Amino acid sequence: MDIAAIAALAPVIPVLTIESRESAVPLARALVKGGLPVLEITLRTGVALEALRAIVAEVPEAVVGAGTVLNSAQLAEVQRAGARFVVSPGCTSTLAAEARRTGMPFLPGVQTVSEAMALAEQGFQLLKFFPADIAGGVGWLKAVSAPLAGLRFCPTGGIGADTAPAYLALANVACVGGSWVAPKAAVASGDWAAVERLAAAAASLKGR
Ligand code: 3PG
Repeated sequence: MDIAAIAALAPVIPVLTIESRESAVPLARALVKGGLPVLEITLRTGVALEALRAIVAEVPEAVVGAGTVLNSAQLAEVQRAGARFVVSPGCTSTLAAEARRTGMPFLPGVQTVSEAMALAEQGFQLLKFFPADIAGGVGWLKAVSAPLAGLRFCPTGGIGADTAPAYLALANVACVGGSWVAPKAAVASGDWAAVERLAAAAASLKGR
């Protein structure tokens, strides 16, 4: 599956910053059960890679990717760990070239029109718009839809259940990313039923 096919699997990609190895598998199972099979595990905790490996091994229905990938070394590391796709908050030409060389499905982050143009020039047509909410939100995406007509986005950052529908209604939005479906308190207390309910609500959000 290429990155567009992965993004088409669900309207929302949960962005997961996993603090404990024990929560990884039940968290992934709850999200998948709720209808969100595409999961982004950020490389922001000491257990992120171990969590990613555990989900890959134990939750085969999940399509697990790695987020907050900042350089080629991390890209190689998450590929070895079994990640099916890679997300970065911004991008460098080195990272883009390495993603192309490895063939790893890649969702590079952008915040400006010039960054989007540079990635489009390298063949990337689906981009993460980050941090979406404070960088212009729905208004930015509407404004770039005509000039950047060939590009689609996965806005992420500051999006919640209340604001996701407005993003998903845009033609140039493929899906949205966010952490609201896995609240820290629910994960810490192992309230997997609550996570599953949030996932089910997110999975039912309509795109165009
Ligand atoms: C990310 O890394 O994509 C963001 O931290 C997720 O943003 P959110 O926590 O505001 O949903």
